[in-house]
Amino acid sequence: MEKYIINGGIPLHGEVEISGAKNAAVAILPATILAAGKCVIENLPAISDVMVSLQILSELGARVRLINKNTYEIDTTYLSCTEVPNELSRQMRASYYFLGALLGRFGNAQVAMPGGCNLGPRPIDQHLKAFTALGAEDSVEYGMINVHSDSLKGVHIFFDTVSVGATMNAMLSAVLAEGQTVLENVAKEPHVVDLANCLNMMGAEIRGAGTDVIRIRGVKSMHGCEYSIIPDQIEAGSYMVAAAVTGGDVTVRNVIPKHLEPITAKLRLAGCEVEEFDESVRVRRTGDLHPLKIKTMPHPGFPTDLQPLFAVMLCLAKGTSIITEGIWENRFRYADELAHMGANIQVDGQVAVIEGVDSLQAAPLRASDLRAGAALVVAALGAKGISEVDETSHIERGYENIVEKFQALGADIKRVDKPVLNVNQAM
Ligand code: EPZ
Repeated sequence: MEKYIINGGIPLHGEVEISGAKNAAVAILPATILAAGKCVIENLPAISDVMVSLQILSELGARVRLINKNTYEIDTTYLSCTEVPNELSRQMRASYYFLGALLGRFGNAQVAMPGGCNLGPRPIDQHLKAFTALGAEDSVEYGMINVHSDSLKGVHIFFDTVSVGATMNAMLSAVLAEGQTVLENVAKEPHVVDLANCLNMMGAEIRGAGTDVIRIRGVKSMHGCEYSIIPDQIEAGSYMVAAAVTGGDVTVRNVIPKHLEPITAKLRLAGCEVEEFDESVRVRRTGDLHPLKIKTMPHPGFPTDLQPLFAVMLCLAKGTSIITEGIWENRFRYADELAHMGANIQVDGQVAVIEGVDSLQAAPLRASDLRAGAALVVAALGAKGISEVDETSHIERGYENIVEKFQALGADIKRVDKPVLNVNQAM
């Protein structure tokens, strides 16, 4: 078990390189199953969710070869097992993408009910709606989801709610189905487009990703490819906010500035300077932070995954901010931790009202989930004194080398082993 020790209050300065997008990587890795061949996937973030996905592929019978820290060759030619090991699929939410990919190639898949961050109820009814519309049957037995079909047929699907996971799973299961599939009311996140681009490189025929309607013409077979994953917009946004919180000057490199527009717009409204270059953005904050009203929404709205990070920034703004969480039921679990640091934040259901304070104080902190954990790290970097952040495994599920990247920006942060309590000593 590890924790971070952070001596905060130092403005961050310098450049930080953004890794590949977690939420694209965790769908593109299962997608390699559909290739039934050799894929080289580049710009994979070195995070635990990617390691779990690679381990699942290997357990299913793929040959997984490390080329370098962020590039793997995955040969799924001889992959034949369709049951994802229970203990692996429970480790992350995105294990549900193995359902769509295995169903698409073999007409059969068994995956345990997925794990991941606890953000309130996380149903998968829209994923199953897509599978059954394509002609599959599903059942849940002893915590395992089973999907089966003798032949998948293209169909018109209108999603009841905009879901990233259901959109991507429907694409995975439809690319090899017979005929045309039309998906309506789909998610438009950059990682949806990235998955479509990768599947097209494998021979799929997908059009319209990034708009409200995706059209898929089923193909008979697919093949291997080389593909490089897009930069992680949420990781980039996290470092942009860290620059704002600490009153620093940070250039965030290897990004697609267009993907960051909802974030850039809000930072400017909060009084930060944001300069955009071809593949980088520079964020500076010299004056006071202004309060904001934020409502999280599907892309291109403000991303829910940055809501906890912006909340930290708004704790230091001059005035009252209001954050409405429009995606998840329970995404303010970090508010109590921020209150321990002296923040004035009141949560009522899906709405948080934040009265800005002059400064936050160091405190012992516990990461309740991935983005809440990153937000607490940023809060601790902005608070004078020594904070400890516990349960950092949540954070390392999604941020490659977060400690080293903050150190390179001048932060005083280190990762230490937490001593395991010895029962005899404790007595
Ligand atoms: C993805 O989760 C991301 N995870 C989440 O990021 C992110 O918060 C979320 O999209 C929204 O952007 C991955 O990509 C692995 P959804 P996902 O299906 O796909 C409801 C992070 O921090 N819904 O778009 O599971 C659902 O309850 C993680 O990196 C249904 O009702 O999210 C929610 O209210 C956390 N039925 C809304 O839709 C369904 O079948 C959006 O969920 C599916 C979803």
